[in-house]
Amino acid sequence: MSLQAVIRSVSHYVPTRRVTNDDLSKLMETSDEWITERTGIKERRFIESDAVTTSTLGEAAARKALEKAGWAPEELDLIVVATLSPDLYFPGVGVLLQQRLGCRTIPALDIRAQCSGLVYGLSCVDGFVKSRQAKKILLVCAEVQSPVLDLTTRGRDMAVLFGDGAGALTIEAVDEVDGAGAAKRGIIDSFLGSDGSGAEVLCMKLPGTARPGFIKASDIEAGLVHPKMDGKVVFKNAVTRLLETAHTLLKRNGVSPGDVSLVVPHQANLRINEMVRQELKLPPERVFNNIQRYGNTTAATIPICLSEAVEEGRLKQGDLVLTLAFGAGFTWGGNLVRW
Ligand code: ACO
Repeated sequence: MSLQAVIRSVSHYVPTRRVTNDDLSKLMETSDEWITERTGIKERRFIESDAVTTSTLGEAAARKALEKAGWAPEELDLIVVATLSPDLYFPGVGVLLQQRLGCRTIPALDIRAQCSGLVYGLSCVDGFVKSRQAKKILLVCAEVQSPVLDLTTRGRDMAVLFGDGAGALTIEAVDEVDGAGAAKRGIIDSFLGSDGSGAEVLCMKLPGTARPGFIKASDIEAGLVHPKMDGKVVFKNAVTRLLETAHTLLKRNGVSPGDVSLVVPHQANLRINEMVRQELKLPPERVFNNIQRYGNTTAATIPICLSEAVEEGRLKQGDLVLTLAFGAGFTWGGNLVRW
């Protein structure tokens, strides 16, 4: 019998420090009006101090998800972490969480698919489940991005977009058919893609081995230690790839947009998500957005949305969920999940 990767719980954690658009306009030439009109963002969360790292946020989200599932850390068989902002150049955040949570010496894997981290992560978890390599899995998506943003007018196009935060899911391999005996719960299908010709359209060049001498003082002066993006190119690619992902997943599973209870897209720009929603002809309540309050938390956006959707009663057991993501790489993809 084929195993299903069933999501048992989802949770999130964001730092307490709220940074509004007006706060940013004191640091750089920008305005609440510009940011709201172009992106939908009103505020984001930044870590409170340097002592807070990606694994700190990831641990907080993970502990809440484990508690909701009623699982002890020792029960886990696998940790998968998606992040573009690891605590250390190496090793990855997965092993740090293995230690922090007090897990057994289970495998710990880091995924580097940027804003597509959650959708790549769920696909990866599904593979581990279907190949019977893990039964109880923790998927953590966590980002601390505020320290690498250029919080001056030079970096304003990127600085106003991003925030810090984390989300976590517990996923279990089950061979049950759900109570009604109808649709199986769990990850039904995933679609992933990449196009490295977009690598330099959205990237942070340093630290990295492509640069002789690793990091020089002049590189810091030139701003190479901050993320850079050609926003218009990314925007157009995002809309195209998100729609391609949605149509592919729906078509090959014989599902129409109207059958989907909730679409949970990556939170990069409210206008991107609005274009996707209109193209799929869905009413506003069928698409979950919270970019207004958190900005773009990269890999963490979708699990934070899922967690809030459950808390708000907008996502219930048995619902059909479609996740959609696009990000640096370029990478993109989605998952069709029976919650
Ligand atoms: N405040 C005020 N003005 C600004 C700011 C700011 N924060 N940032 C840029 N501007 C200025 C620009 O300098 C430009 O001025 P100019 O016309 O005098 O040259 C003007 O505003 C317009 O800038 P555009 O870049 O044309 O603005 P656009 O409408 O394209 O919006 C944005 C920019 C919001 C970045 C948009 O392009 C976007 O959302 N792109 C996609 C982002 C995305 O999907 N990222 C993927 C995920 S991220 C990841 O994977 C890590």
